[in-house]
Amino acid sequence: MKLWELDYFVSPKERKSLALKGAVNELGEVDEGVLHAGAEFNIVDGVPNFLLSGELSDKALSVASFYDGRSETYDQYLHLTFFTHGEDETKVRNGFADLLELTRDSTVLEVAAGSGRDSEIIAQRLGAEGKLFLQDLSPGMLAKARERMHTCEVPTSFSISDASALPYPDHTFDAVFSFGGLGEFPDIRGALAEMVRVCKPGGKVVVGDESIPVWLRSTEFAKILSTTNPQFMAPLPLEHMPVQAREVCVRWVIGGVFYLIDFRVAEGPPTGNFDYPIPGPRGGTLRSRYEGQLEGVSVEAKEMAHQARQRRGMSMHAWLEEAVRKAAASDLG
Ligand SMILES: C[S@@+](CC[C@H](N)C(=O)[O-])C[C@H]1O[C@@H](n2cnc3c(N)ncnc32)[C@H](O)[C@@H]1O
Repeated sequence: MKLWELDYFVSPKERKSLALKGAVNELGEVDEGVLHAGAEFNIVDGVPNFLLSGELSDKALSVASFYDGRSETYDQYLHLTFFTHGEDETKVRNGFADLLELTRDSTVLEVAAGSGRDSEIIAQRLGAEGKLFLQDLSPGMLAKARERMHTCEVPTSFSISDASALPYPDHTFDAVFSFGGLGEFPDIRGALAEMVRVCKPGGKVVVGDESIPVWLRSTEFAKILSTTNPQFMAPLPLEHMPVQAREVCVRWVIGGVFYLIDFRVAEGPPTGNFDYPIPGPRGGTLRSRYEGQLEGVSVEAKEMAHQARQRRGMSMHAWLEEAVRKAAASDLG
C-alpha cells in the first residue's frame, strides 16, 4: 500500500479516517502494518484487509473461499464464456468501459474486480493523473489482479473488503464499475447503495452479471446454459436499485445472457413540479391531490358539492378550498 492511499480509505462501517501503524519503505510503501480507527485492519503484503473476523455472513465466507480456491485457474476458463456466444472478450469489455465516460484524470472504483480482466481495460483509459481502486472479497483473486496490474502506470490501490461495506469515503469516485460479482453478493441492495454512496453526484455506475431475459427462459438455449450455471436464471436486480439512479439503461450483453445496467448518480430521489394548477373540473395541483386529502363525505354531500361548484363555475378544488377555509375560520373564531 502506498502512503497516498491513506487519504482514500475509511473504516467500512463507521467511515472514520484511519491512522497507520507500520514501517514505510523508501518508495513510500507499507508492506506490513495496521490501519486503525478503533477497529484494526491488517495490511498484509501491501494490501489492507477490511474484513473483520466474525462479521462476514456464511454466504460471503463460502463465496470468498470458493474464489480463493479458483483463483489459480479462473483465467484459464474465463474465455469460454465469450467463446460460447462467439463474442470477442476485449471488444465486449471495452464496450463496458465506454459507459463509464472516463477521462485520463478520472478516479475509478472497480468492485469485485476478480483477476483484473476489466481493470486493465479501464486502466488503459486513465493517465498517471487518474487513479484506479480495485476491491474484492477474495484475497486470492485480488492477488491475481495485482499481478496483472504490476506494470500499470496508473496509480492503483487494492483492498480486500465486502462490496456492501466499502472502505472508501462518500463521493470519492467519478465512476464505479462491477461485473460478474453481483449475483453472489449476500446483500445486493446494500452493495448498490454503497456504490452510489462512494460515487460523486453526476458520476456513472455500471454493473452487470448473469441473467437470461425472462422471455427466453423456457428455451432450450436457456436450459442448456443454466444447467451448468444456475446463476443464469437469477432475476434482474431492479428492485434493489438505489433511488439516486437516473438515466438508467438496461441492456443484455455476451450472447444476451448477462445484463448490464448503467446509470448516473443523483443526490436523492427525483423531484418534479407538482404545484401548477391542473385545468378542468377537478382542479387543484398534483401536490394538493396528494397532500391535501381529507375524510370522505356521504354520497349526497358529494353530489351537492358537485352541483354547487358547477353553479359557481369553479373547479372542485377551488370550491372545497373556499368552503373548508370559510367553515374552519368560523369555527376557529
Ligand atoms: C465471477 S468473478 C468476476 C470477476 C471479474 N469482475 C470478471 O469480470 O472477471 C466474481 C468476483 O466477485 C467477488 N465477490 C463475490 N462476493 C463479493 C463481495 N461480497 N464483495 C466483493 N467481491 C465479491 C469474487 O471474489 C470474485 O472475484
